[in-house]
Amino acid sequence: MSNELSAAGEADLGEAMPEVLRVWRDGEVAVFEIDNPPVNATSQSVRRALLDAVQRAQSEPETKALVICGAGRTFTAGGDISEFGKPPREPHLPDVINRIEESAKPVVVAWHGTALGGGCEIGLGAHKRIIAKDGLVGLPEVKLGLLPGAGGTQRLPRLIGPVAALDLIATGRMVGAEEALRLGLVDAIARDDLRAEAIELARGLIGQMQPRLSLRNTPAAEPEAWQAMVDKVNREARGRMAPQRAIELVSQSLTLPFSIGQPNERRAFFELMNSEQSRGLRHLFLAEREAGKRPELAGVTPRDVRQVGVIGAGTMGSGIAVAFLDAGYKVMLIEADDAALQAGLDRVNGLYLRSIRSGRIDENTRLARLANLAPTTEMGRLAACDLVIEAIFEDMGVKLELMKKLAGLLSASTLIATNTSYLDLEPMADALPAPERFLGLHFFSPAHVMKLLEIVRARRTSHEALATALAIGRKLKKIAVISGVCEGFIGNRILAKFRAQCEFMLEEGALPREIDAAMEAFGLAMGPFAVQDLAGLDIAWARRKRLAATRDPNERDVPIVDRLCELGRFGQKAGKGWYTYENGRRVPDPAVESLVRAHATATGRRQRSFSAQEIQNRVLTAMVNEGAKIVGEGIAARPADVDLVLVNGYGFPNWRGGPMHHADMLGLAKIVVIAEETAARDGQAFSVAPLLKELVASQGSFAALNGG
Ligand code: 3HC
Repeated sequence: MSNELSAAGEADLGEAMPEVLRVWRDGEVAVFEIDNPPVNATSQSVRRALLDAVQRAQSEPETKALVICGAGRTFTAGGDISEFGKPPREPHLPDVINRIEESAKPVVVAWHGTALGGGCEIGLGAHKRIIAKDGLVGLPEVKLGLLPGAGGTQRLPRLIGPVAALDLIATGRMVGAEEALRLGLVDAIARDDLRAEAIELARGLIGQMQPRLSLRNTPAAEPEAWQAMVDKVNREARGRMAPQRAIELVSQSLTLPFSIGQPNERRAFFELMNSEQSRGLRHLFLAEREAGKRPELAGVTPRDVRQVGVIGAGTMGSGIAVAFLDAGYKVMLIEADDAALQAGLDRVNGLYLRSIRSGRIDENTRLARLANLAPTTEMGRLAACDLVIEAIFEDMGVKLELMKKLAGLLSASTLIATNTSYLDLEPMADALPAPERFLGLHFFSPAHVMKLLEIVRARRTSHEALATALAIGRKLKKIAVISGVCEGFIGNRILAKFRAQCEFMLEEGALPREIDAAMEAFGLAMGPFAVQDLAGLDIAWARRKRLAATRDPNERDVPIVDRLCELGRFGQKAGKGWYTYENGRRVPDPAVESLVRAHATATGRRQRSFSAQEIQNRVLTAMVNEGAKIVGEGIAARPADVDLVLVNGYGFPNWRGGPMHHADMLGLAKIVVIAEETAARDGQAFSVAPLLKELVASQGSFAALNGG
C-alpha cells in the first residue's frame, strides 16, 4: 500500500518524525503507521510521536482525516512491558488517546495482527475501527495482573455494553474479527486491503462531526445478565485481584461520568502495577520468553520435523499424538497388537469428540486432523519419521529393549525421544548408535492440553537436537523448559520433596484435610492429598514397592499410603483414598484420620497443631530449597525456569510468580531459617541448598540469577 501511495506521488511527511511513527498522506487523509518492532508496543517514543502527529494534523489545512495503523506483523501489543514498574514518562497513553478522541478531524484505526491492551484502547479513542479478517483484538492486561489503564474499562462498556465489556476485560481473551463485529467493537471487517479500506472509511467521514465515546452513556444491562457475569468473574478470580477490580471499574462506567471513571481506572492500574500479583505475572511473561534462549544454541538451525512417530497409545501416547496432530504434524501411532492399537485410536477419538462437545473444534477440523494420523502395528514404518517418541510402560528394561530395536530401524537422521517422567536417560542413550540425537520430551497429562513440556537434555544430546526440540515446543504452543537429567527432572523432583514434607507433617500432628485446605488457600487448585486421590494411589504404591529394596533405612519414610492401598483405598476411582467420595464430592473420612493419628503417635514424634501459614511456609521452603539445588547443579539454567515448570505443570498459582519468585518476595533469609529448622528435624531427608545459603550471605536473589 505504501508503495502505491508513493507511486501516486503522495507527500511523505515522515522525515521530521521519530522513527517509530511513519507518516504520509493519501490525498486528504494522513496515515500514521506505528513502527516499533517487534510488536509496536506503545513505548514512550511511540506515545510522543503519535501525540505530536495528531496535534500537528489539526492545524494542517490539507489534512481532513486521519488513519492510524501498524507496521509489521501486528497493530500493537499495547503498553511496553519493559517500562512497567518504572516511573511513568509523559506523555501518558490516556492523554494521547483523549487527544485522538477530541480530534476535530475524524480518526480511523486499522487493526491487523493483534490489537491488544493500549492498542485496543487507541482504537476505542478513535471514531471508527476496521479490522483485518484474521485480526485479533482484546484487553489482556488482567493476565499481567493489571487492568486497562488508558480508558479501556470506561470506553469499552460505552461501546459494547457492560456485560460483554466485563467479560473481555476480566478474562483478557482475544476476539477475532467476526466476533468483534458482532459485539460492535469494530465498524467493519476489511474485505481485502485493510489500509486502503481504512483510508476510504476515513475519507467518507470528512466534514462530519464525530461523536466521542467518552461522552456517551453506557447502555443499561439486563440485571440478571450483569449479575451472572459478575458471579462468573468472582468465581473464576480465585484469589486474583485484577478481575475483581474490573467489576468495580466497569460498574463505575454505568454510574459515573468518564471524567471521574478514567482517573479512578488510572489509580487502580498503578495500584495493581505495584502489587505482588502483577509482579509475579509479569515475571512469568518474561520468563516464558526467555526460557528457550540459550547462548550455546544461538545460530543453531533446528531440523525440519514433519512426520512424528509415537510408540505406545496409552493415555500419554494418545494425548501426545493429538498434541502433534493439532499442531499440523503427520503422526504415526504404534502399538504392539491390533487390540491395543484400537484402544489407542478410541482414546484419540474420545479426545477429539470431547473437543467438539466443548466447542473447541468442529467436525471438519476433527476429520482433517485424523487424516494426518497413521495407526500401525508395524514398527518398520517408523523409518519414515523425523522424530520418534516412546511413551511406553515406565520400566527401564522395557525401554532398553525398545531402544535396541529402534537402533536397528531408524535412519541416521531421526531424532529419538523418551517421555519418561523419572528414569535415567543415559542407559537409553547408550543403547543407541547416535546418542546425540536422543533426548527427553516429558509431556504432562493430558498431553494435548497441558502447557508444560520438559525437554530433557542427556549428556550427549547435540545442540541441533535441542534446538529442534525447542522449535517443536513452539509449534506445539507449549512452554518448553530445558532440564538436565536427574531423578524426576525439574518438576517431579520438586514434587517429591513437597509431598514428603506434607507426609512428614502428618506424622507431627497435621491432618490431610488441614494440609489441603492450607495449600488451597495459598492458591493451589487442589491440595496435595486430593491430587493424589485424583491420580490414583496405586501408582505411588507400585513405585514405593519397586524402590523399597534400595531405600536407605535411615531415610525418613512415611508408609501411610501403603496402609491405605492395602485397604483398597486407591483414590477417587475407588471412591475412597485419603478422602471418601460421595457422589464425586470429597469428604474427610474419620477412618483415615484415625489411621493417620495412630501412625503419627506410633512414630513417637511430638504431636502438635499446625497453622495454615506454617504448612504453607514448610511446603514452599521444601520447593524452593530443591529448586535452588536444581539451579545450583545446573539441571535448570535459571530459577525462572523452575517457576515456569511449577506454574504450568503443577498448579502453583501463577499470580505468585512461581516458588522461586515468591521466595524472593518473602525474603530468602526467612526461607533459609525454615530450611535450617527442617534440616535439623528431618536429618538425612533434608539438607539446605548451598545456593540458598550463598544468596543469603551475599544478599543476592533468584531474580539476579535470572538476569532481572
Ligand atoms: N511490551 C513489550 N514487549 C513485548 C510486549 C509488550 N506489550 N508484547 C510482546 N513483547 C515482546 C516479547 O517480550 C518478545 O520479546 P523477545 O523477542 O525479546 O523475546 C517479542 O515481543 C515477541 O513476543 P512473543 O514472543 O510473545 O510473540 P508472539 O507472536 O508469540 O505473541 C503477542 C505476540 C500476542 C503480542 C504476545 O507477545 C502478547 O500477548 N504480548 C502481551 C500483550 C499484552 O499483555 N498487552 C497489554 C499490555 S498492558 C497495556 O497495554 C497497558 C495499557 O492498558 C495502558
